[in-house]
Amino acid sequence: MNEQTQPQRKPVILSGMQPTSVLMLGNMIGALRNWVYLQENYECFFCVVDMHAITVRQVPAELRKRTLDVAATYLAAGVDPNVSTVFVQSHVPEHAELAWVLNCYTGFGEAGRMTQFKDKSEQHSDNITVGLFTYPVLMAADILLYQADLVPVGEDQKQHLELTRDLANRFNHLYSPTFTVPEPYIPQSGGRIMSLQEPTKKMSKSDSNQNSTIFLTDTDDVIRNKVKRAVTDSGTDIRYDSENRPGVSNLIEMYSIVTGTSVADVEKQFEGKGYGDFKAAVGDAVADYIRPVRTRFDEIRADVPTLTKILKEGAEKAQHTARRTVRKVYKKVGFWQPEDK
Ligand code: TRP
Repeated sequence: MNEQTQPQRKPVILSGMQPTSVLMLGNMIGALRNWVYLQENYECFFCVVDMHAITVRQVPAELRKRTLDVAATYLAAGVDPNVSTVFVQSHVPEHAELAWVLNCYTGFGEAGRMTQFKDKSEQHSDNITVGLFTYPVLMAADILLYQADLVPVGEDQKQHLELTRDLANRFNHLYSPTFTVPEPYIPQSGGRIMSLQEPTKKMSKSDSNQNSTIFLTDTDDVIRNKVKRAVTDSGTDIRYDSENRPGVSNLIEMYSIVTGTSVADVEKQFEGKGYGDFKAAVGDAVADYIRPVRTRFDEIRADVPTLTKILKEGAEKAQHTARRTVRKVYKKVGFWQPEDK
């Protein structure tokens, strides 16, 4: 095999975010920053997982708007649609098709062990649907359709990736090799951004307290104010100790990431300074980091025809790969197809 007959296949990456809210600083630092960097060396599929969003009740008009918001944010953060495939999950019906098949290969007890289902069904106890229960299987379908080698995920999704691996192995052993068994991709640098109001909790786009979260659409002043009001600890010096001083440590981590300075250097830089000065500097630095993303977001989001074209082409490209996988799967499970005769 030489390179001409067998072009080297780049490893495949797939990831997605739910269009349930405008994205926030934690998404930028924890995920999008890595996506942008990964797209250079991997074949990347980045989807907006609207089908996952309806596992809890959504306002339809809001969901439509947020879908475009999230797609525009991917691009604003630097995902290049000429390099990566950017698409909306529901535009590629293969996601639903494969999810159904995989549902029939997932144990009821196996799905019941997913801790996120337990958490979410407590949060939404008035509306616990079968969709919420089977959501990790849809996520497995997202990943396996594209034969992904690597999946960048946060801590909260690791168990779902484990299930994905189990399903892939199970199917491959029952029939014959069909799916690539994906590995989790854990970014080198931490980048876990915590809530500004409760620094022991992860920063979340669905936090009920707006001051906890810096959204990518927040203006410079809003960002500075949120940082100024961030909960800090009783100490006075700028020293990293996430265990005992989670508030100031979170701000140090944020400052370190957005300015590209090591934690030790941040401590040195602010030696002898108080929380007031430090918070002002963090507010400015985060505002500087978000500003270009917000500006690009506004431009991209205002040009819906271009965004539509990008998402349409993305879906076509994604479907090309997804269809191949579904065709194989249908054949293996024994679905008769007209070309079988
Ligand atoms: N379940 C993920 C979340 O809520 C989103 C998601 C859906 C995803 N499909 C995926 C992430 C596939 C990575 C790969 O955050």
